[in-house]
Amino acid sequence: MSATAVVGLQWGDEAKGKIVDLLTSEHDVVVRYQGGNNAGHTVKFDGQTYKLSLLPAGILRDGITSVVATGVVINPKAFLGELDGIESRRGKVAPEKFLVSDRAHVIFPYHMAEEAVLENSRKNDEKIGTTMRGIGTCYREKAGRTHAIRVGDMLYPDQFKRRLTEIVEFKNRMLAALDPEFKPFDAEAIFTEYSAYTERLKPYICDTTAFLHHALAAKKRLLFEGAQGSLLDLDHGTFPFVTSSSSSGCGIHSGSGVPERAITRMIGVVKAYTTRVGGGPFPTELNNEIGQHIRDVGHEYGTVTGRPRRCGWFDAIAAGYGARLSGVDCISVMLLDVLSGLDELKICEAYEINGERTTDFPSHVERLAQVKPVYRTLPGWKSEIAHIRKVADLPANARRYVDTIAELLCSQVEIISVGPDREQTILG
Ligand code: IMP
Repeated sequence: MSATAVVGLQWGDEAKGKIVDLLTSEHDVVVRYQGGNNAGHTVKFDGQTYKLSLLPAGILRDGITSVVATGVVINPKAFLGELDGIESRRGKVAPEKFLVSDRAHVIFPYHMAEEAVLENSRKNDEKIGTTMRGIGTCYREKAGRTHAIRVGDMLYPDQFKRRLTEIVEFKNRMLAALDPEFKPFDAEAIFTEYSAYTERLKPYICDTTAFLHHALAAKKRLLFEGAQGSLLDLDHGTFPFVTSSSSSGCGIHSGSGVPERAITRMIGVVKAYTTRVGGGPFPTELNNEIGQHIRDVGHEYGTVTGRPRRCGWFDAIAAGYGARLSGVDCISVMLLDVLSGLDELKICEAYEINGERTTDFPSHVERLAQVKPVYRTLPGWKSEIAHIRKVADLPANARRYVDTIAELLCSQVEIISVGPDREQTILG
């Protein structure tokens, strides 16, 4: 039994897509198990750039089966748009190469409308800063059950229509009460639109959990591709400034149906610094020219929303917590090249709260908002490193920086990325 998982240890955008893409050829099945089209990653393949949001990176390669498992929420319009984009460049995606869970939940237009009303009703410092993709409102229906529709439900048109009509009537009443400018949704029109999506999706829809169990029994090699990062995990992250799924390693089992003991290698991915999009405390944030420098050099603007990302020093307390949550076996340090040229670098090695020092990550955001980072200052390196392919060839200060991350995360760094291309990778 062999299964690898790739999870982000920070607040998302750790460049996990590159690691998944690098590992894909060593696997038979690539599985996306949580989140929706709030995620986004860029994969360079055959000299072309692909922006993937919902589809697993495996979809670009022959001989790999890509699975969108139970824990994902699917906006069928976005999903098919992405599939069309890939098919127009790479030809038809065969149904046996691509499986969509009948248990995954479906995002409808009223989910986006409801999210906009909720986010806009919050004061600025309380806004979660969501991607406005209807992710949280769809997961809420899933947990609440009464207004949820799964992919498999759309295969039964009569029941689907009856259910959708009831839900749309309810949502229209609710949204009209909350927003005087709200224009009601037309259940019939949504039904027609989503029935067309279902026709296109039908060949791919199946029980992915059973498929994965058979794949494990047949000794297929599975690769789990996390979306977002551990600190955005609904249960364990910086609630309420989180996403609505289990985005740490904890979500793999519930989101795919594959048991924990099947995962034989857990790779935690971190950036060499920290970024965050949306609201919520960020202890090592740099609201100065160094933060702007990192944003510019690292092209730190959201793949999905284009928002500038908040940038800061590497926070070993936050990432270390992510590493323990996910139970990582090793670390990938991404975007190390972005730090080249800075005179000195800081890594947060402890938090100080009310004069007390701790290396635990606070469980409450109010407490997190109070922490003062305790920094270890390291000398920077001046030379470019994007062309380097061996650890030994890195400047001594870059090696020292990576070694410090490994020491503070109590793990080993096995992959260092020094640029977006596959070749710009150093294996430790
Ligand atoms: P939602 O997932 O759209 O509900 O957004 C909730 C929070 O998660 C917001 O702060 C988003 O900016 C953040 N978020 C969602 N997806 C991503 C991602 O892929 N990368 C980084 N942040 C994300």
